[in-house]
Amino acid sequence: MEPFPEAFLQKVFSKAKTEKMSTIKVELALSPYMPGDRSYPITVERGLLDSVGRRMREAGLGGRCAVITNPYVGSLYSKRLLDSLRGAGLDPVTIEMPDGEEYKTLSSVSLVYDRLLKERFERDSTIVALGGGVVGDMAGFVAATFLRGVPYVQVPTTLLAQVDSSVGGKTGVNHPLGKNLIGAFYQPKAVFIDPDVLNTLEKREFISGLGEVVKYGVIRDGEFFSFLEKNRDRLLSLKDEITRAIERACAIKAEVVSMDERETGLRSILNLGHTFGHAIEAITGYTKFKHGEAVSIGMAMAAELSFFLGLTGKDAVRRIKDLLSGFGLPVSFRGISPPDFIETMRFDKKVKEGKIRFVLVEDIGKVILKDVDEGKLKGFLSGESFL
Ligand SMILES: NC(=O)c1ccc[n+]([C@@H]2O[C@H](COP(=O)([O-])OP(=O)(O)OC[C@H]3O[C@@H](n4cnc5c(N)ncnc54)[C@H](O)[C@@H]3O)[C@@H](O)[C@H]2O)c1
Repeated sequence: MEPFPEAFLQKVFSKAKTEKMSTIKVELALSPYMPGDRSYPITVERGLLDSVGRRMREAGLGGRCAVITNPYVGSLYSKRLLDSLRGAGLDPVTIEMPDGEEYKTLSSVSLVYDRLLKERFERDSTIVALGGGVVGDMAGFVAATFLRGVPYVQVPTTLLAQVDSSVGGKTGVNHPLGKNLIGAFYQPKAVFIDPDVLNTLEKREFISGLGEVVKYGVIRDGEFFSFLEKNRDRLLSLKDEITRAIERACAIKAEVVSMDERETGLRSILNLGHTFGHAIEAITGYTKFKHGEAVSIGMAMAAELSFFLGLTGKDAVRRIKDLLSGFGLPVSFRGISPPDFIETMRFDKKVKEGKIRFVLVEDIGKVILKDVDEGKLKGFLSGESFL
C-alpha cells in the first residue's frame, strides 16, 4: 500500500492541528420558503461539550432551550451540557425519551410537544438534541414542526450521528409501515461534535459508525481512504486521528449536502452500500446487524458488483473490503436467496422503471449512479465472491 504522504496530511488537517479545533460550514442556497441564510457551522473539538452554551450564544441563540436526550446519554452528559448552557445564561429544561429505535415515533414526538407546550416554549426557544441518531432525528423533527419551526442544534454522541445523521437536515420518525417515512428536511443552526463522548460508546456501536466513515473515502476522497488505512489501529483506539476523521467525513457530507440539499441528484451518492444494506436489514428483521454493519456488507457488495460489471478493478474492491474488515466490520452475508434479495430491493426507493439503482465504484474516491438490470443482478448474486 502507498504510504500516506505527510504533505497531504499537513494540507488537509493543518487547520485542525494549529487551532485544535475545526469548523466546517454547510453552505445552503437561499430558499423562497425559508428566508435568510440557512448555512450553519459544524464544530469538532475534544471537550466541546463544556462550551456549547457559549457557542450557542455566539450563534445568536439564547433564552429558553429544551435538551432532548434519553436516560442513558442523559446520565452521562446532561449535567455538563446543562452547566454549560446555564453558565452562558441560557435557561434549559431536559426532556427525556426512552432509549431505542422503537421509540422514534410520532407518539414520542407528541409527548415532547406536550411538554414544550406545558413549559410555554415559544418560537425563539431552541431545541438541543443530545444523543445518537435516534434522538437527533426525532428532536430535529420536533424542531421542524413545533410552532411551525423553531431553531435547533445537534450535539451528536455516537460516531454515526457525528459523521452522518446530525449533518444534512434529514429529520423524522418511523411509521409502522417503514423506517423514516415521516419527516422533513430541516437544517440545524449548528452542530457541536465532541469526539471525547465516544469513549463511553459501546465498541460495536463505534465500529458500526466507522463503516460510514469509510464510505466517505470511497465516494469522494481517495487520500482520506488512505489516511484511514494508515491509521486503522489509532482510529480504533480513539487517538487524535478520530477527530481528523470526523472532520473530514463531515466536510465531505457538508459539501455534498450543499450541492444537493434535498437529494435530487448528487446527494444520493451518500447511499453507497445502502441498497444492498437496507435489503439485508429488512430481511434479517433489523436485529442481526447494526445499520453501519449492514452498510458495510452493502458497500463490499456494491464494490464487487462494480467489478462484476467491469466498472472497477480488483484492487479497489480488495482495499475496500480489507479496510472494512480491518475495522472489524462484516463484508459478506450468505443466506439470502437472489430472488428474495431482488424482491426486497425492488421496494427500495432507488428503483426506476424495473431497474435497480445503485451507487457503484469506479475507483476509490469516485462513484457513479447506475441502473442495473435485474437479470445481471441475479447473475451477480448467484455467483461466488471472487475474493
Ligand atoms: N438523519 C439522517 O440523515 C440519518 C442518517 C443515518 C442514520 N439516521 C438514523 O440514525 C439512527 C441510528 O442512530 P445511532 O446509530 O446513533 O443509534 P442510537 O441513537 O440508537 O444510539 C445507539 C445507542 O448508543 C447509546 N449512546 C449514544 N451516545 C452514547 C455515548 N456517547 N455513550 C454511550 N452510549 C451512547 C444510545 O443510548 C443508544 O442506546 C436511526 O434511526 C437512523 O434512521 C439518520
